[in-house]
Amino acid sequence: MSFELPSDECILGIETSCDETSAAVLKNGSLASVVISSQFFHNRFGGVVPELASRAHVRNILPIVRETFARAGMASADLTAIAVTYAPGLMGSLLAGLNFAKGVALGLEIPLIGIHHIEAHIFSALLEPSKPELPFIALIVSGGHTLLLLVKDVGSYEFLGETLDDAAGEAFDKVGKMIGLDYPAGPQIDALAKEGNPDSISFPRAMINDANYDFSFSGIKTSVLYWLKKHGYHENDTSLKKDIAASFQRAVVDVLVTKTLRAAKEHGVTHVVCVGGVSANSELRARFERECSRSNVRFFVPRPLFSTDNAAMIAMLGALKLARGQRSDFSLTALPRVPLAPRPEIAL
Ligand code: KG4
Ligand code: ZN
Repeated sequence: MSFELPSDECILGIETSCDETSAAVLKNGSLASVVISSQFFHNRFGGVVPELASRAHVRNILPIVRETFARAGMASADLTAIAVTYAPGLMGSLLAGLNFAKGVALGLEIPLIGIHHIEAHIFSALLEPSKPELPFIALIVSGGHTLLLLVKDVGSYEFLGETLDDAAGEAFDKVGKMIGLDYPAGPQIDALAKEGNPDSISFPRAMINDANYDFSFSGIKTSVLYWLKKHGYHENDTSLKKDIAASFQRAVVDVLVTKTLRAAKEHGVTHVVCVGGVSANSELRARFERECSRSNVRFFVPRPLFSTDNAAMIAMLGALKLARGQRSDFSLTALPRVPLAPRPEIAL
């Protein structure tokens, strides 16, 4: 089943859940403009500092929205709805975007649509010309999540599996720190791995053959740490750094691709979507492309700009919800933790 996008809506999307301030306009189902401002100043702290993040969102949101309108050649009066991330994320950061959006919705008397950030990542795949059709398998791999779902419709998700400990992006960032890289380390490991030997070190592929769809990435992190200690690693050894990056990345990619394709096969689904920050990884994308075409499965991944946090995906899910008559009221509040599709209870 293909997606119907509204043909007469002009939707402003707002995203401020973590350290990206972003705004986007989706006009008649296609993206008119998007602006993403990343708070790189967190790098020097080795991670996002919540208080500084929320202050930066408050400072940046209005100029970013104005720039988004200017690029789309439109004015605020053209808007027919506003979609905003309300969960999950950092409380102060979410509040900055949510309160701004409420003000705009109230002032312009247009509908407000609260968006779950992880749900929006799933539909970032619809920002590309070639779009997945329902049902599809979604692998959501970001700094905070590694989640495998069967997507039956907007709002209808069957939980298949998730990480039992660290998210895949978290493992990239922590291993990167161990080998002397700045936060976030994912893109740097990706670049280093291109020049390293992925078979030089054998890191564990936890749970790869287990008969479930769960993941575990804390073991590989510990295993990298022990390897570094045992072999007396030094940050200046660039060639070794590349080999570690390539070997670590290969192990993570092996597990993610193997389990996702097994989920597609076992559920008889022929469309697979990979989204979230880690889906920007070049080896992960290439491996999915290769293995999916071998298995007669169609693979969908947004361009790297839309893999990481952005407001275009927020506006896209806003459009889908609006088409289904869904909107929020002004009691909508920011929530730091809301599972999208919780693990089903196991009856004992
Ligand atoms: O989706 P996202 O922008 O923010 C969250 O909602 O978490 O994901 C950020 C995560 C970080 O852990 C970052 O290291 C990782 O995505 N990441 C990558 C790449 N680009 C970003 N990981 C591996 N390879 C990349 N090219
Ligand atoms: Zn995200």
